[in-house]
Amino acid sequence: MNNVFASQHPLVAHKISRLRDKNTEPKKFRELVREIAGLMAYEATADLLTSPRQVETPLATLEGAELKEKIGLVPILRAGLGMVEGFWELMPQAEVWHIGLYRDEQTLRPVEYYNKLPLEPTVSVCLILDPMLATGGSATATVEVLKRWGVKKIKFVGLIGAPEGIARMQREHPDVSIYLAAIDERLNNRGYILPGLGDAGDRQFGTG
Ligand code: PRP
Ligand code: URA
Repeated sequence: MNNVFASQHPLVAHKISRLRDKNTEPKKFRELVREIAGLMAYEATADLLTSPRQVETPLATLEGAELKEKIGLVPILRAGLGMVEGFWELMPQAEVWHIGLYRDEQTLRPVEYYNKLPLEPTVSVCLILDPMLATGGSATATVEVLKRWGVKKIKFVGLIGAPEGIARMQREHPDVSIYLAAIDERLNNRGYILPGLGDAGDRQFGTG
């Protein structure tokens, strides 16, 4: 599990507990998803490359830094949408490329319904955003889409992960680092994460 990072930050622990609470209303739920995403963005970008940039302060000149890599945020629709703003506040220059997937409720397999990626990659690093890593079907399918697109550096950023989904990602894509706010116990027989937070899409969009 050396490329799996579970946040140890008390702010993340506090907010993820509020998020899990079944009494948290969609408005507050969306706010928490955005805020936790921002905190996770800080953790997931710690190894991005920078190049030197000369800066003149009012008093002197120094060699500062600027981000070298072109970042693509890849929210998995629908639930990943709520994480975009938290990232964008910190990296407003990032491109956003949506991938539409839903889980077939019977087979639990991901079904792709939206992908408008251009022929050639326009970014050097992709951050896949999805609150839930359950069976890992949606995350692995998205990694495959991005690898076919030609992106070499891919990370997955989620809020809650199940051991089953983490293991699948590590088996199929050991080169993709995983950043999570919490790692839970297991999946139930309908593929939901326990204790989890329920259906992340329905809770954000008020459709449950
Ligand atoms: C949820 C979630 C992930 C997926 C995780 O999406 O947002 O994309 O399930 O499950 P997996 O790891 O087993 O693939 P869902 O299919 O409910 O679609 P939605 O976001 O449109 O509600
Ligand atoms: N998708 C969700 O939204 N929640 C889960 O627990 C599993 C998949």
